[in-house]
Amino acid sequence: MSEVEKHTQMKHRLLGVYLSICTKNVKSQKSHDFIVVDLYANDGTAYWPGGDEPWEGSAKIIAKWVSKAGGNAFCILNEKDTTLIENLKENTKEYQSVIREIFPEDANTIYQHILNKYVPMDAHSIFLLDPYNHTELKFSTVEGIAKHCKEDHYRGESFIRRPELIINLPTFSILKSQTQNEQLITDFFGTDIWIEELKKAKKRRMSQPEVLLEVYTKQLGKFYSTDGIVPIEIRTLEFNAPIYYLIFAATHPVAKTIQQSFKTWVARKIKDFRREGFDLKDIAEAKRQHLTTIESFERKS
Ligand SMILES: C[S@@+](CC[C@H](N)C(=O)[O-])C[C@H]1O[C@@H](n2cnc3c(N)ncnc32)[C@H](O)[C@@H]1O
Repeated sequence: MSEVEKHTQMKHRLLGVYLSICTKNVKSQKSHDFIVVDLYANDGTAYWPGGDEPWEGSAKIIAKWVSKAGGNAFCILNEKDTTLIENLKENTKEYQSVIREIFPEDANTIYQHILNKYVPMDAHSIFLLDPYNHTELKFSTVEGIAKHCKEDHYRGESFIRRPELIINLPTFSILKSQTQNEQLITDFFGTDIWIEELKKAKKRRMSQPEVLLEVYTKQLGKFYSTDGIVPIEIRTLEFNAPIYYLIFAATHPVAKTIQQSFKTWVARKIKDFRREGFDLKDIAEAKRQHLTTIESFERKS
């Protein structure tokens, strides 16, 4: 069982809700395989020492929802730390019929093999990229997955079918280590532009995490259009800065509809989250609609 920070609960709730919406949708779309790949799986469970009960980690959440998605749905798990593999198998065994393979490899190399072996170009696939920090994920991996694509159409609308991505953008860990090894951060972003952009943050009246999000979103924008990229900011109220962003990226018109339902759910739940000590924000939507975010409202009042 993995000890985690309390805010990890938020990530798991968001992931569960997103996949539950996807599952409802794919059930009615039987013509394509539904494949979810967890490249940084850990052991499938999580617990926080300040709480009572352990809860389901990403691998178990994924396997559970995939098992409800109908006949042609399956998942692949990967975890580099080989000491976690036995527990991962044990913790997910009730869903083993939908787990096609569990790899003990580096995500930055195994992704290509997984794409080649398990992900047909016309499948509906989702890759969860959830490293502890930026040193564990290279942008070349994100690019490699995004390039696994084909031209397609849906109800008369043409689009490029790419795997969907759910990425943890660990801004807190990046900013904490920015002077230590710039090259590792550059590998994570796939560009060194973040260095210059951070210098301009104050002048542009942006926070440093916002700047990093902008750089990452622009990089993703090479493959996913703006209306298919949804970043959710996660911060705890005791530590008033984003800890990370969970970024959802998709190209399929249905996936974009799912993202809208998901954003509605997040907006509805904000009060509950704050009662539990968290703050979540759908930044893009707040900016587009010129909404007063909770922080700026508090500053004004
Ligand atoms: C933040 S944890 C993942 C938590 C899990 N996704 C969850 O939500 O329950 C990151 C995991 O990635 C693993 N990891 C780190 N570097 C990796 C790499 N290059 N390839 C695959 N796994 C890696 C770590 O051992 C750790 O278990």
